[in-house]
Amino acid sequence: MVTSVIAMSPYISGVAAWQESWDRQQEAYLPDREHRFAVMLDAVDAVREATPPRLLDLAGGTGTISLRALRRFPDAQVTLVDLDPALLALATASLGDRATIVTADLSRPDWVTALPHRRYDAVLTATALHWLSADRLGVLYPEIRGLLRPGGLFVNADHMPDDDLPELTKRLVTRAEEHRSARFAAGAALSWSQWWHQAEQDPSLAPLVRRRHGIYPSGHSPEWTPPISWHLSALRNAGFTEVGTLWRGAADAATVAVR
Ligand SMILES: C[S@@+](CC[C@H](N)C(=O)[O-])C[C@H]1O[C@@H](n2cnc3c(N)ncnc32)[C@H](O)[C@@H]1O
Repeated sequence: MVTSVIAMSPYISGVAAWQESWDRQQEAYLPDREHRFAVMLDAVDAVREATPPRLLDLAGGTGTISLRALRRFPDAQVTLVDLDPALLALATASLGDRATIVTADLSRPDWVTALPHRRYDAVLTATALHWLSADRLGVLYPEIRGLLRPGGLFVNADHMPDDDLPELTKRLVTRAEEHRSARFAAGAALSWSQWWHQAEQDPSLAPLVRRRHGIYPSGHSPEWTPPISWHLSALRNAGFTEVGTLWRGAADAATVAVR
């Protein structure tokens, strides 16, 4: 399936509250989530040219990166791509005409044809590409490179354990899981499945959540999370000129690749 550019803002009641609730749910898994976004946007700032930055928010969900990018660079031209009808409706209701919102499946090579532009200053993504297979990601990385201007950046923040710290990483992950479980048990935060259950109770989101069940039958990612060395090597193979680690925290990291 390729794709449509969503033109009309759907009516979602309490969209700001849904955005806040999404952020709290994601932060239950990624306590340093805002820091990742700030680091990403610092990198965009560092390679800015005289023209307004053109940014692609890949698997952008509710528009978290797009909204923060527009706060930082109000003149930015932002494109958001995702496949989830419920999250895209929240993104569309929040971003309005400040971004171009595209429905496309990143597991298919034709996703690029749905974009409104062929050149971007930066492609940014968070907590998303582990939904794709190793084979697909090995092809997606060169596709992303093809969308960047020379000197443009690709930043991917995701679960990417450090190869050199296997035992410590396991312990850090276990500790984080225990802490998270205690917070869920105490009602301090909603889990992924609780959030989706709550969204399905909202009359304006319910039909979209039901459509989502057909798109993601298991409801969540396959949790394929290779170590950071896998990503760095795939990025080098994709032909980027500079490749490295922009940020790290426990089992997560943000890779950066410069065209
Ligand atoms: C955990 S969410 C993260 C969303 C957002 N980047 C954030 O940080 O809040 C993962 C996102 O990846 C999207 N995604 C997963 N597989 C996809 C695919 N094949 N094509 C497009 N988007 C996909 C999901 O729809 C979801 O919005």
